Amino acid sequence: MGIKLGLVGLGRFGSAFTKLFKAHPLVDRIALCDCESDKVKQFLNDPFMADKVSEHDCYTSLDEICRADLDALVIITQPWLHAPQCIQALESGKHVYSAVPVISLPDDEEILDWSGKLVEAVKRSGREYMLGETTIFRPQTMFCRRMAEAGKFGDFVYAEGEYIHDVDGGINGISNLREVLRTRTTGVVGSQYQALVDRYAARGAKDSPMSYPTHSISGPLHVMKARALKVSAYGTPNTNSDPFFAKNDFSNVTALYQLDNGVSLRICEFREIGSTDIDRCESETFRIFGKQGSFSRNVWVENGRTAPGTAKPIMATAPEPSEPGSKFIEMTSGEMRDPLPREVQEAFKYAMNPNADPNSDFQPSGHGGSHPYLVHEFVSAVAENRKPLVTVEDAAHYMAMGVAAHRSAQRDGEIVKVPVF
Ligand SMILES: NC(=O)c1ccc[n+]([C@@H]2O[C@H](COP(=O)([O-])OP(=O)(O)OC[C@H]3O[C@@H](n4cnc5c(N)ncnc54)[C@H](O)[C@@H]3O)[C@@H](O)[C@H]2O)c1
Repeated sequence: MGIKLGLVGLGRFGSAFTKLFKAHPLVDRIALCDCESDKVKQFLNDPFMADKVSEHDCYTSLDEICRADLDALVIITQPWLHAPQCIQALESGKHVYSAVPVISLPDDEEILDWSGKLVEAVKRSGREYMLGETTIFRPQTMFCRRMAEAGKFGDFVYAEGEYIHDVDGGINGISNLREVLRTRTTGVVGSQYQALVDRYAARGAKDSPMSYPTHSISGPLHVMKARALKVSAYGTPNTNSDPFFAKNDFSNVTALYQLDNGVSLRICEFREIGSTDIDRCESETFRIFGKQGSFSRNVWVENGRTAPGTAKPIMATAPEPSEPGSKFIEMTSGEMRDPLPREVQEAFKYAMNPNADPNSDFQPSGHGGSHPYLVHEFVSAVAENRKPLVTVEDAAHYMAMGVAAHRSAQRDGEIVKVPVF
């Protein structure tokens, strides 16, 4: 028997996931929820949804859908709402998938407070929580996870993670930050945002790119299965009175963390920077260096040293170099990805393109092809009653790292310990 799933928040990002969740073979029934009923109707009236969605399963409030007979809720609402909504959903007995981050607010204490409350709510409820972090389901992360599990990096030494998203960047305006902010802060719920930030501004609380740190931090941390201990960070403020940054201390922050595996991790969260090239994957990327193997920009390199005490070279099962004699192995996304089960691929193919050629292969798309993998991981975790790949502890730790870096940058690089929950 499959699962019953409710989708809360059918805006710009949530609507990209609706058909994928509906199409998954382990999902029997889908409920839809958005405060704006036209967004719900758009999917209710879509013939692709018809076999799993009915009018009876359509809602316009979180309170209502929490009372429904469902196994799990997928919450893709505005980022300042996530934590309280996820806690409400967990307390109503549902497993929860949340869009990133745990919560985004211009107050470090509140971010930590909500992160702690969320960890507690997961424990108390006995339900699972998954953070929908796209970076962890990108092909680069899948490849590095496999290499790390096989010990191919050797001891980790150093890593870098970046989320470079200029305020005026974005492909054809789709992910332009001014436009994203405009749409998120209009409509039934969004229009309450201005009053909220004004209240924080009145008491001098300031935001920073580090309140949304998951895309840069999560890849290296996930691959190395590490936690951050402390950080020194610096920020650059906006200096041309751009209203977008009016309530921010900094528009760019660079942080150097020490991790519990001895690695130094350099993180950049940049929002005002001369790079708008989201297309070429320069904006959301990481590099990981080990004593025997390293990964950077789809290239894997090994030095061929054997691990002490082992008879064979440790890279015996590494991919073949693309050119004979070369030690550099450059891979395509397809070569780096884990495979999805055949029946899931087939179902997703038509969710993404109803007119897909039956003989064509499935091409994952959305944030480096992560979207179908996020959906498959959450649905499988709920169906198999297991922890998802990105847990509430991971999610809370990313926030604690962001808060520590913001505090350090406010104190001119002073070393700050990363709070522990
Ligand atoms: N790479 C990524 O991981 C990535 C990319 C884009 C967006 N996101 C995240 O996705 C989230 C959504 O972004 P978006 O651009 O789609 O926002 P959006 O404003 O377009 O959509 C949010 C929707 O949630 C609905 N909503 C809010 N509260 C609700 C409630 N209580 N009950 C029912 N509906 C409710 C709103 O009506 C709105 O339609 C954000 O938190 C963002 O951080 C993540």
